[in-house]
Amino acid sequence: MNEHYDDRYFDVINAIEEAKHVFFHGAGIMDMFSGRDRRELRIGETGFGAGRVLVSLMDFLEDSGMSDLAITYNSVELHPMPAERMESILDGFRAEVGPLIDQLVREYRSLDITRQGWQRMKLTRPFGSLTLNLRVGEALDMVRELTAPCDAWFLDGHGPKKNPAMWRHELLLAVGEKTVKGGTCATYTVAGEVRRGLADAGFSVVQRPGFGGKKAVLRGIKQ
Ligand SMILES: C[S@@+](CC[C@H](N)C(=O)[O-])C[C@H]1O[C@@H](n2cnc3c(N)ncnc32)[C@H](O)[C@@H]1O
Repeated sequence: MNEHYDDRYFDVINAIEEAKHVFFHGAGIMDMFSGRDRRELRIGETGFGAGRVLVSLMDFLEDSGMSDLAITYNSVELHPMPAERMESILDGFRAEVGPLIDQLVREYRSLDITRQGWQRMKLTRPFGSLTLNLRVGEALDMVRELTAPCDAWFLDGHGPKKNPAMWRHELLLAVGEKTVKGGTCATYTVAGEVRRGLADAGFSVVQRPGFGGKKAVLRGIKQ
């Protein structure tokens, strides 16, 4: 439970599979590699939390059998948690992704999460490398500070009712500005203000089937 927002970090039983459905299929991550000799991908995430999406992404890429990928993963967290808490939250997925959790927690421990600003860690895996650029601080600052636009965004900032700040117009407009043409965003909320905000940010927004009892989720494609 995140005491700042009276909300859980993720609220489905199969949170690894949920991340794959909502974020990676939602943002079309595999399509970004297929048919091209492309190996680099820049991803943005709003709400780093316990790193469940990051661990799920590494598992997803590992399953793809691809190699030599260079993933840049930009994320932000206003209330970073200690490594011990991260480990205990991710513990439920140990059977599925134990070695990935161990590696993430080990590297995360070396970051200074008490300091506002950017922290970096590099994870090397059979699929290639993933560089995490974690901005400790406010999401809008992180998006504005990015020097290169992202190919895909995972919007994971607690629901708009619990945490409207993570879905405010200004922030979604900034996300649109920091997305390449044809790039994507994905999220689990289909709330009207989020759809309108993403449309104003230049995304064409479509609903897709949901996961784990949720009827629908969102995909946006930057026009
Ligand atoms: C749903 S959780 C993210 C879960 C995370 N993606 C994971 O995989 O574990 C949302 C996160 O956004 C963070 N957050 C909320 N408001 C924020 C803001 N304005 N700027 C940056 N982070 C924020 C919360 O502290 C929380 O950790």
